[in-house]
Amino acid sequence: MRYVEPEPDAPEVPLLGGDVTEGLVRKGGTVRRPAAPTSAAVARLLRELEAAGFDGAPRHLGTDDAGREVLTFVEGDAAVRPWPEWIGEPERAGSVARLVRRYDDAAERLGVPEWSRELGMPDPAGSPPTLAGPPTLIGHLDVTPENVVFRDGAAVSLIDFDLARPATRVEELANVLLWWAPWMPAEDREEALRDADPFERGRLIVDEYGMSAAGRAQLVRVSQSIAVRSWHSMRHRAETLGGGWARMWQEGVGDRIVRRQEWLESQADALEAAVRF
Ligand SMILES: Nc1ncnc2c1ncn2[C@@H]1O[C@H](COP(=O)(O)OP(=O)(O)O)[C@@H](O)[C@H]1O
Ligand SMILES: [Mg+2]
Repeated sequence: MRYVEPEPDAPEVPLLGGDVTEGLVRKGGTVRRPAAPTSAAVARLLRELEAAGFDGAPRHLGTDDAGREVLTFVEGDAAVRPWPEWIGEPERAGSVARLVRRYDDAAERLGVPEWSRELGMPDPAGSPPTLAGPPTLIGHLDVTPENVVFRDGAAVSLIDFDLARPATRVEELANVLLWWAPWMPAEDREEALRDADPFERGRLIVDEYGMSAAGRAQLVRVSQSIAVRSWHSMRHRAETLGGGWARMWQEGVGDRIVRRQEWLESQADALEAAVRF
């Protein structure tokens, strides 16, 4: 669908904060994203979420004359590095969990349709299979502080659906725990979360999401398997996509993921106890 510019002369302002999307700009009340192989499927996801009445995502407005995706700009605060101190406030983490729950409920109603196979990337060679079981919804799966918009202290919208793909609720919640508990060694945390208690906050996030007993029982094991799988997928993205992915790999994201695997292993029993009913 071709986007008709209401203000053709509005200036384009580069959006900073993300790691990988080059050429992202704000223009008036919209954001322009360069086309990617998954653009059509992400557009479809955003449109179906809108049709289903879900308001916690940007709306997809069409494609502009330069072939870029046009999305609504979501007003509010998203973190940019260094993350502000408020990222560490527990109520924020709780509100993120509730927003992701609302998203997952809406996404589960869409199911895992044929077109959703265009999302994500196939597993690279050497990557172990997921332990999470068959997908039940299109997960967002990249719920970093940069990808959540807050208003009045509460999470109101997810942005950046570039990594969305078929997944389970447990995989989705494991991603929220990684960033917001955070389930990683203290040395690798941003300052704003350095002193956070990953057990107490993990419990809060899982409770606010309202995860089932069966899901809770899987969370730590699935988190461990995601860490192994993400080492493979990050390396693969760095090799095949270059750009910001290659930069992150050179900056040591692979080693950080290995440290996360070791941390999850060493803390597994305590983490399981923290999230159990
Ligand atoms: N639709 C949007 N509404 C409001 N801010 C946005 C929107 N899209 C992107 N941004 C801002 O731009 C930053 C980078 O965009 P993002 O889509 O996350 O790119 P990347 O793929 O590089 O992470 C976000 O962290 C956010 O601050
Ligand atoms: Mg982002």
